[in-house]
Amino acid sequence: MCGIVGYVGDRNAYEILIKGLHRLEYRGYDSAGVAIVSPSGRINVYKSRGKVSNLEHYCKDKDTAGSTGIAHTRWATHGEPSDRNAHPHYSEDEEIALVHNGTIENYKVLKDALIQNGCKFQSETDTEVLVQLIEYIRTNNDCSLVEAVKEALRQVVGAYAIAVIEKGHPDTIIAARKSSPLVIGIGEGEMFLASDATPIVEYTKDVVYVKDNEIAIVSKNEPLKLVNLNNEETSIDVKTLEFSISQLEKGGYPHFMLKEIFEQPTTLRDCIRGRVVEGGKNIIVSGVLDSKDKFLNAKRIIIVACGTSWHASLIGKYLIQDMCRIPVEVEYASEFRYSNPVLDERDVVIAVSQSGETADTLAAIQMAREAGAYVYGISNVVGSSIPRNTDSGTYIHVGPEIGVASTKAFTGQVMVLTLLAMAIADLRGTMSKEELDKIGAEIIRIPDYVKQTLELNEQIERLSLIFTYAHNFLYLGRGYSYPVALEGALKLKEISYIHAEGYPAAEMKHGPIALIDAEMPTVIIAPNDHLYEKIVNNVQQVKARHGSVIAIVTEGDKEIKNIADYVIEVPDVPECLTPIITSVPLQLLSYYIAINKGKNVDMPRNLAKSVTVE
Ligand code: F6R
Repeated sequence: MCGIVGYVGDRNAYEILIKGLHRLEYRGYDSAGVAIVSPSGRINVYKSRGKVSNLEHYCKDKDTAGSTGIAHTRWATHGEPSDRNAHPHYSEDEEIALVHNGTIENYKVLKDALIQNGCKFQSETDTEVLVQLIEYIRTNNDCSLVEAVKEALRQVVGAYAIAVIEKGHPDTIIAARKSSPLVIGIGEGEMFLASDATPIVEYTKDVVYVKDNEIAIVSKNEPLKLVNLNNEETSIDVKTLEFSISQLEKGGYPHFMLKEIFEQPTTLRDCIRGRVVEGGKNIIVSGVLDSKDKFLNAKRIIIVACGTSWHASLIGKYLIQDMCRIPVEVEYASEFRYSNPVLDERDVVIAVSQSGETADTLAAIQMAREAGAYVYGISNVVGSSIPRNTDSGTYIHVGPEIGVASTKAFTGQVMVLTLLAMAIADLRGTMSKEELDKIGAEIIRIPDYVKQTLELNEQIERLSLIFTYAHNFLYLGRGYSYPVALEGALKLKEISYIHAEGYPAAEMKHGPIALIDAEMPTVIIAPNDHLYEKIVNNVQQVKARHGSVIAIVTEGDKEIKNIADYVIEVPDVPECLTPIITSVPLQLLSYYIAINKGKNVDMPRNLAKSVTVE
């Protein structure tokens, strides 16, 4: 939610900032802006409503010279998307400029106090309060920028990653974080900062993840300095980035989403590498053996997540219950945290989050830890907040996911949850060695099965043309295929803006069946599993009401083929692995429908990749 970038060094800051904003655009794209300390000594701020390309267009004839600057791409929370509300925000005297990712909860109180002291505001944002407060403290206390930032942050309630520049000190950026991500890149005579490492990796692999309540003094010629709000210096832990710039490019595909769908054979191979060994006879998932007692003695597992990660978690529930015989609950993190949950030290809470930054998921696990539960994290972004706030955990290792609609992260999450369930089952002795080995051997083949499924691309593209102008879709599935139905519906609605609902197939009779008519396509996920005969009935119930059915079936299917209007045949895999395979055609179907409608699939309206606000 909002992306920030900063640069200090000898290069042209504007070029680095704009490139960085493009990389962070997945975080928000309502408006964008840059602030650069010009060689003449003033801070030039340029802002524009809309995508980063609008800002670039606007800046074409502007003075963008300078080698220190900050920039922002916004996902609006306080104040509509507009030039005025876009960041950076100036202080009233234009001496300092600030960008912010997060929300200032007590902004109203602070704003009223500043207005009483004669301060005039230009925007409706919570962020402008922060820059005015910093400036007010700086001028009234005659103190340095870093002192003023520190004092202002002591007064602020909320979440923030900020970067501030000052006209009088053009070679330094002051940055700080609390509950919103901030990474600093260390180069030779230059430094970078950003909401994640993607704008930085092109220039340096040495990064420092700023921790909550730390303030960073980021200078061109001085080593990085971190202090806390009590003015104590904190240690600097330099990490090496493990991904490369090529992973951030489209690689010949028209969209990141399509690239990421097609990357899945590779990302799933990366995901199982080192975890499924000895031909599938040994499953190693980090954190499980170290916390053996926790998983052996768990009386219950609660999985917390949001959105697509919640759908993956629901598959995790079926997997863990089936394989480990432990009761599992799956909670929306946003509900769980306010539901006064009953937790104790025999509960294991698993947090699933691609970004590792989702505010509700982070708050849910902080609460679970305080209540004594053991918290295990499954994330994609290395060094992000959720893995840093868990007792143990693992990464899905699918590489940066740029498309706002999650695809490869979903299959990676399901894969890791499968491996986790197998590792716990092995520990608890709830599955025989033979059963585990059989699944292990099939997991090794999954990347190839996904590759084979991707060969359906053209068939699905053709099919998409028939349904592009449908107004509503129903997605049905049972058992492991029910969360796949939910995920298929979410993919379609978020990128094509067609209303779609996912439902457990049998529940259709209790309401949604009333919607079915010749205008309403129903996608039914019906692999050859133990509920196959039941779902055949559901297909018939839809057909009896003249609905058109697109069915995802296993290769060689006989029954549904004769009833459904369109069938998509996917490779035959063990039941517990079907979600990874059946979700792929649904990703493609939603992609092509959205493309046919001319939608921007990588940046759907109103959405942002990383939801760091409540
Ligand atoms: C949908 C999508 C979102 C995310 C959700 C949670 O395609 O990507 O629903 O799954 O915002 O995000 P993470 O996994 O980063 O916690």
